[in-house]
Amino acid sequence: MENPNTSNDLQKKKKKKVVKKSKPQPLTKSIPQVTQQPLKPTRLVPKKKAEIREININEIGQNELSNTDHRVEADGVLAGLITPIIIEDFYNEYFGLKHLHIKRSENVYKNFFTKDSLDKMLRNNYMKFTENVDVTNYVNEERITLNPEGRAYPSLVWKHYKEGCSVRLLNPQTFNSNVWKLCSILQGHFKCGVGANIYLTPAGAQGFAPHYDDVDVFILQLEGKKEWRLYHPKDQTEVLPKKSSENFAQDEIGEPYFTCTLEAGDLLYFPRGVIHQAVSPPDVHSLHITVSTYLNNTWGDLIGKVLNRALEIANEDCLEFREGLPRDYSDFLGVIHSDKVGEERRKELLDKVGTLWDKLGQYLPVDVAADQMHIKYLIDSLPTALNQNEKKHSIEDETNPMKIKTDTRFRLIRQDSVRLVVEDIAILFHNADNTRVFHQIGDEPGIIEFTIECVDALEHIIDSYPAYIAVKDLPVDDDDQKVDVVSALYEKGLIMFEK
Ligand SMILES: [Fe+2]
Repeated sequence: MENPNTSNDLQKKKKKKVVKKSKPQPLTKSIPQVTQQPLKPTRLVPKKKAEIREININEIGQNELSNTDHRVEADGVLAGLITPIIIEDFYNEYFGLKHLHIKRSENVYKNFFTKDSLDKMLRNNYMKFTENVDVTNYVNEERITLNPEGRAYPSLVWKHYKEGCSVRLLNPQTFNSNVWKLCSILQGHFKCGVGANIYLTPAGAQGFAPHYDDVDVFILQLEGKKEWRLYHPKDQTEVLPKKSSENFAQDEIGEPYFTCTLEAGDLLYFPRGVIHQAVSPPDVHSLHITVSTYLNNTWGDLIGKVLNRALEIANEDCLEFREGLPRDYSDFLGVIHSDKVGEERRKELLDKVGTLWDKLGQYLPVDVAADQMHIKYLIDSLPTALNQNEKKHSIEDETNPMKIKTDTRFRLIRQDSVRLVVEDIAILFHNADNTRVFHQIGDEPGIIEFTIECVDALEHIIDSYPAYIAVKDLPVDDDDQKVDVVSALYEKGLIMFEK
């Protein structure tokens, strides 16, 4: 089924006839055959950037890069997580390919999130079992979830913890600002949703059965220790899977190919599909945060959107796609007829399918599909965690509302928080209305609509980031229109002003 959050569907809901400006692109290259070969690092990786300053996760929003280019700050946070591995090597040798274990002699995550932070979170918020908190156990090869109904009162959670249960926080970014800041900045790096889970495990316990996930994960050991065991996917179909696995029995997964004990300050990364299990040692508890990303952010997801849209265009454009099926088609096509290789009528029908498939290849709206992918990211993303300076110079500052004039200088707060789609109007998709609760405002993207004359001005604003620009320099004829464009962005909290 097609993703409902497409610009196309959105426009239908608005009852506007919208025609995409860009023409469908011809198929110029043949599609390579899919193979089951092991993954090799032959992927397209972003070009090497200038040397990146490493930023500790406790310095997000309060370092010298926080008020320059947010993209550089985001790169710096990832660089800080994986140091001494540099980002370029990480993408070439590890990301989506194999695990990375970084051992450190000091706790570089100190005070980011502690056992005490967990206690405060439970006390200060209305957190519910199952929705926000799980208490689980894994004993005699059986994973048991012991969630009571209703609110996760601290006394109830600690009772289960003392009885040997692991405590899992399912969406700590909703309740804790440090976790929000970390996920918010990393989503700007990956251009993909970033989520988090926090796990507190008592000494000598295991909370979960062996399994693999549908996301790439970064495990940051915050307190104590945890022994990890990693296992290869069972076969090629489970490499980089699209869905998480069920719980495995120990005799299904063989011997681990990698084991380690994470201590406070260490990091472990592994791609989706790597089977894993972890247990805390007998003498100390474990507290770690798992930061996850790259859910449904694959070439297959992009191509799926391309094909959906290509078929829509082909159906509109080409009568052959709208012609009725011959009434005898099901007498010759179908699994039961697949062995009738020499049958003339079957061959004729298959040739027709091949002809239509080739015609479909003439309509490949890759740019529309890429827009849809980014809009899906905006729907899934966390709202931007603003730093003090951004709060002071944006709509967040209630004490000093900005009067926008032609000589006012401004810029976007985050470039990746918007996506401009040009049809017969200009639509700016954004994530400014999102809350820290996933999809709380629904699964429709936030939009601001502009007249087509504003396209160049909006492009200028997006392309100028991170530089500040003057309202009067926007490429629109009318001064009032310039001010209107900037006002619309200001009122959605998307821009900030120069000091
Ligand atoms: Fe997992």
